[in-house]
Amino acid sequence: MNFWEKTYLVSPAEFYVTGERNAVLETYLGSCVGVTLYDPTARVGGLAHIVLPSGDQKREAVSPGKYATSVIPLVIKKMLELGASKGRMVAKMAGGASIYKNFNLDIGRRNALKAKEILELEGIPILEEDVGGNFGRVLRMKMENGEINLRQIGQGLRDTPPPAVVRGVEFRDILKEIDHIEPLPETVRQALALIDADPEDSQELKGIIYQDQALTADMLKICNSAYYGFSRRISSLSHAIVLLGFKTIKKILLSLSLRNILFQKIPSYSLGKGEMFKHALACGLTAELMARELGRDNDSEKIFTAALLHDIGKIVLDLVAFDKFGLIMDMVVKGGRSFLSAEKEILGYTHAQVGAMIARQWNLPLVLIEAIEYHHEPGKAQVAPEVVAMVHVADVICSMLGVGGGVDGLVNPVHPGALSLLALDAKAVENIIEGLPEVMKQIEPIEAHAVTGHTSTALPAT
Ligand SMILES: [Fe+2]
Ligand SMILES: [Fe+2]
Repeated sequence: MNFWEKTYLVSPAEFYVTGERNAVLETYLGSCVGVTLYDPTARVGGLAHIVLPSGDQKREAVSPGKYATSVIPLVIKKMLELGASKGRMVAKMAGGASIYKNFNLDIGRRNALKAKEILELEGIPILEEDVGGNFGRVLRMKMENGEINLRQIGQGLRDTPPPAVVRGVEFRDILKEIDHIEPLPETVRQALALIDADPEDSQELKGIIYQDQALTADMLKICNSAYYGFSRRISSLSHAIVLLGFKTIKKILLSLSLRNILFQKIPSYSLGKGEMFKHALACGLTAELMARELGRDNDSEKIFTAALLHDIGKIVLDLVAFDKFGLIMDMVVKGGRSFLSAEKEILGYTHAQVGAMIARQWNLPLVLIEAIEYHHEPGKAQVAPEVVAMVHVADVICSMLGVGGGVDGLVNPVHPGALSLLALDAKAVENIIEGLPEVMKQIEPIEAHAVTGHTSTALPAT
């Protein structure tokens, strides 16, 4: 990468078409398929991040970026509008992995087959292709010349021996960094303490939010964003609760209050600024969607919050062990090890364990501590195994779709015990994947606010 380049990250179910010479289009792929199209004469190109092979007419009209059948013709159309010629277009494709074979979905293979079929129908030759396997990929296309750069994550020889033992990180260094993390805003601390309270009883929480005027103002700004589409301005919190419901308001409150902590970049995990926040929100919304799919609506608040916080330990490990992450990635990429076991071996601690230490320091309810600690090992949960299983599966689904999980997200296996505990069948998982891009639109106003918004003034802890 050089200073001249401008990188555009293409999220699942999205596409990007441009004629900017200095643009680099990038996407993270698991089972999804990335298709690049390029006209070398006009130097116009595009990248599509395909989530599913095809949908019905209505679905394709609502989310054309999601399906191979609708997005490829759309990228071609947009390129023609920018001066490309169809006769000169060439395609490259990557992804379509079957990392999550326990889901028994076969989505990766179906995505790749459908993308090829559509490109053939359109008469566009595929110059390069790297599809299948059981590993994730990072795909980048330079608009300067249409060249692609492909990085495979997590494939390799399972029998590669681990590197020589490295001294792990000191426990006291972890504790020191935990102490330095911004304390949880008082509003959130109180809201989290009410997590088991009757969700309909909004009086107490309303009182808590009102104490923080900046937060109330921020929340009203989000409630008035285009996503919620109200024709009249919402000017008070009570009005917002009536219109959006208490659960949604609490979700916005938590997301907004944690944005400062979660928005930072975490280089050791290849997470750019804002990517951890996006992953956390996406996991929260996916877990909530799953709770609904499984008829567990009553627990959705706990599940959303646990999923929002699950990777918090990465922030601390990035600070104390940034010099050791090269070894971890070597173990993952060359040794085919899971990120968690490599973390444990090299550092002595996993981000899940460190996350649980932070959660204890913050005095979070036990159910949240457990979900953070075991989000990669749901079989160890005792307090609320189903909540932990949902957070785990939501994390895997988001990673599979390439939503801000960083490089480790592309190599996290799904725990078969979690699927059987939840009685999640392939159809239910497919429904969740299908509904996710729409649900994720909720992230946009919160994300936009995280970029431009101001910090809320938390009251001092009592
Ligand atoms: Fe994690
Ligand atoms: Fe995660």
